[in-house]
Amino acid sequence: MSEAVIETRGLGHTYKGGHTALDGVDLALGKGLFGLLGPNGAGKSTLMRIICTLLPPSRGTATVFGHDVTSECREVRALLGYLPQEFGAWRQHRVEEVLDTLARLSGLSDKKHRHERVAETLELVGLDSVADRKVKKLSGGMVRRLGVAQALVHEPPVLVVDEPTVGLDPEERMRFRQMMGRLGRDRTILLSTHIVANLGGGCQAMALLDRGEVVFEGPPDDLLRRAVGHVFEIEVSAEAADRVEAEYEVVSRNATPQGVAMRGVTASGLPEGAAAVESPTLEEAYLAFMASRGRSEAARQEEDAPS
Ligand SMILES: Nc1ncnc2c1ncn2[C@@H]1O[C@H](COP(=O)(O)OP(=O)(O)OP(=O)(O)O)[C@@H](O)[C@H]1O
Ligand SMILES: [Mg+2]
Repeated sequence: MSEAVIETRGLGHTYKGGHTALDGVDLALGKGLFGLLGPNGAGKSTLMRIICTLLPPSRGTATVFGHDVTSECREVRALLGYLPQEFGAWRQHRVEEVLDTLARLSGLSDKKHRHERVAETLELVGLDSVADRKVKKLSGGMVRRLGVAQALVHEPPVLVVDEPTVGLDPEERMRFRQMMGRLGRDRTILLSTHIVANLGGGCQAMALLDRGEVVFEGPPDDLLRRAVGHVFEIEVSAEAADRVEAEYEVVSRNATPQGVAMRGVTASGLPEGAAAVESPTLEEAYLAFMASRGRSEAARQEEDAPS
């Protein structure tokens, strides 16, 4: 019997029209916060919708606590809370009202118990002080937190959260990251993002999806170790800086009294005069990994651009 909370085997999905968004995905998730990284179009939302029983897979299987997402979707739904990428409706309603309605849909039929859970959940996500406010008067971060609240209200052991931080300011992003770390202590959370820094320290396991395939799975530390030797720092004159930027993927660029200090990633050798960074950030490690696959940021953007 497998220990995994969520498990996929040979999971694949081809949309009508023939585009294969997922291809042979094998993943196993235990307790805690699991980060799903990947560029735009990698297949993250497709994978999440399949796990949440909203999209039937074309091939392979996915299970939640051993229940199959296709043949046992009722059991799976009871175990899951889902925050979709585009959560944000209900603008004319008050926060508490929205949560109460969604709690009823999630099966909390007993009124007294439901009211208690609504109050507890609003407090948990820090929205208790705005319970009477209309959704349209909330900040972007508050709307995302309301999204988390509706996913949590029936106390599911598994939370699936898709790109939670799009459009949030840095402070709200940090708050969100901390909340996910906290919630991941006694649950399984599958969280997708393409902003690597959003995973934060609470994330112990991750996978990297690229064009529908898992290209890395393991602890963030493994990705960091692989990046050593492929992340560099260099200080050069302003003109030389432009040359470095044209040739390498530069992650940061700061003016100094002498010129420009830059950090970047490279799939092969370091630029002349550069020093290897010994402790890269997770974002740098991610970019270095993608570069080693011939997938620079520029190449990915070109691929995304409408032809
Ligand atoms: N309903 C659909 N019909 C056809 N193709 C789709 C559909 N939804 C997604 N796709 C395609 O499948 C691929 C994977 O999409 P998906 O939304 O799963 O990626 P993602 O990793 O979530 O991307 P993002 O970071 O932009 O949210 C993309 O190429 C996308 O264009
Ligand atoms: Mg998506």
